[in-house]
Amino acid sequence: MERYCVFYTIIVYAIPEIYLDVFHYPRPDLAASIVKQMTPDPIFGALSGLHLAAPRRTGKTTFLRRDLVPAVLEADKFPIVVDLWEDRSRDPSDILRRRIGQAIDDLKGSAEKALDRSRLRRISALGFSVALADLEPFSGTIPEGLERIGAGVGRDVVLVVDEAQQALVSEGGMDAMFALKAARDAMNLGEDGPRLFLIMTGSHRSKLAELVLSARAPFYGGSVQDFPVLGESFVRTLLEQLATAQNVSIPIDEGVAAFEILMHRPEAFMQAVRDEIFEAALSGEKLNLRRRAEAVRAASWGSLEAELDSLSRVQRALFEALMDGGEGFSPFSKPALEDVARRAGAKSVSKSAVQQAMKTLVEKELVWQPGAGRYAVDNQDMLDMHRRKKSQDR
Ligand SMILES: Nc1ncnc2c1ncn2[C@@H]1O[C@H](COP(=O)(O)OP(=O)(O)OP(=O)(O)O)[C@@H](O)[C@H]1O
Ligand SMILES: [Mg+2]
Repeated sequence: MERYCVFYTIIVYAIPEIYLDVFHYPRPDLAASIVKQMTPDPIFGALSGLHLAAPRRTGKTTFLRRDLVPAVLEADKFPIVVDLWEDRSRDPSDILRRRIGQAIDDLKGSAEKALDRSRLRRISALGFSVALADLEPFSGTIPEGLERIGAGVGRDVVLVVDEAQQALVSEGGMDAMFALKAARDAMNLGEDGPRLFLIMTGSHRSKLAELVLSARAPFYGGSVQDFPVLGESFVRTLLEQLATAQNVSIPIDEGVAAFEILMHRPEAFMQAVRDEIFEAALSGEKLNLRRRAEAVRAASWGSLEAELDSLSRVQRALFEALMDGGEGFSPFSKPALEDVARRAGAKSVSKSAVQQAMKTLVEKELVWQPGAGRYAVDNQDMLDMHRRKKSQDR
């Protein structure tokens, strides 16, 4: 598929979402491969749900809005995007209901009428620009609402829930997830009629996994997949355009290494490139993007380290044991207590001391508790730093 990357000002679907002079690397192939899975396959059937996780600031939302939504429309399906982080003070179920209410309002009067693609495009685009807080939540059940939308557009509905792990924060949020599952089952069971596809993304893998893992989870039986982060082709395209537009030459492998150091975050990478070009022009020195990326990372690790330094020895030892132990780590077991003592340089630590330390780690939002007796690392940047430092030491 043709890739077209430009520094450009675009107005997406002629609606008030304006991207000014920013480099955007389109990902039509990834969008097409997701949409393709929604077409029934003779062996596997059609995909009915997808849970995709990738770290913060790696381009999930941008992909959903700028690549996936157009691809869904192109496939003659109707996309609805809801971002559960849109207003963190609101219950996720409230955000979902408002978005459903909005879609129904936008479609009013269009039931049974064939909607052409440009109208659908306009309606789906509106969802990106309206402040949901000003809208009435839908008062019926979530499955009823989605069925009404399906009937209104006369097409399959693709509901994209961004930051879906936010549903875990409240009982209402989890109920909304169960309602989505019920809606999907109801709509997909019939032979005819519009189907419902659910695509959930999240920046917290272990939290997203809570929606699919246990038998009590709404999407039990599903799995969380890694959303592919941007890679070499993003770097190459950006650097090639820079070479043409600004006559700045940065070797691709140096760019790729810097992008990796910056955890595949386009924004941080572009900032580093910009700063490096600017400072090299001032100082007359040779560009060294890799060194700059390392400096940016060192600064961010420095502030994470400062946070770790504020922990007591037992708290820090426990946190490190959890980071190494992963999901199956059982913090109050005998081997874990011995491990924590060893890391803390103590002869032994009591169970109550570890319980107290764990409480503090949860309060500091370094750790979260998926369920009774289960603990997982909450701060993903800490985890990344820990893993990378460990692999450097090897
Ligand atoms: N394909 C891309 N090309 C160029 N820049 C991109 C691309 N995707 C994302 N970006 C830039 O990276 C930054 C983060 O993107 P985005 O908000 O989509 O990430 P995210 O993973 O949803 O982040 P968060 O975890 O905060 O929700 C933005 O500044 C965005 O403009
Ligand atoms: Mg996002």
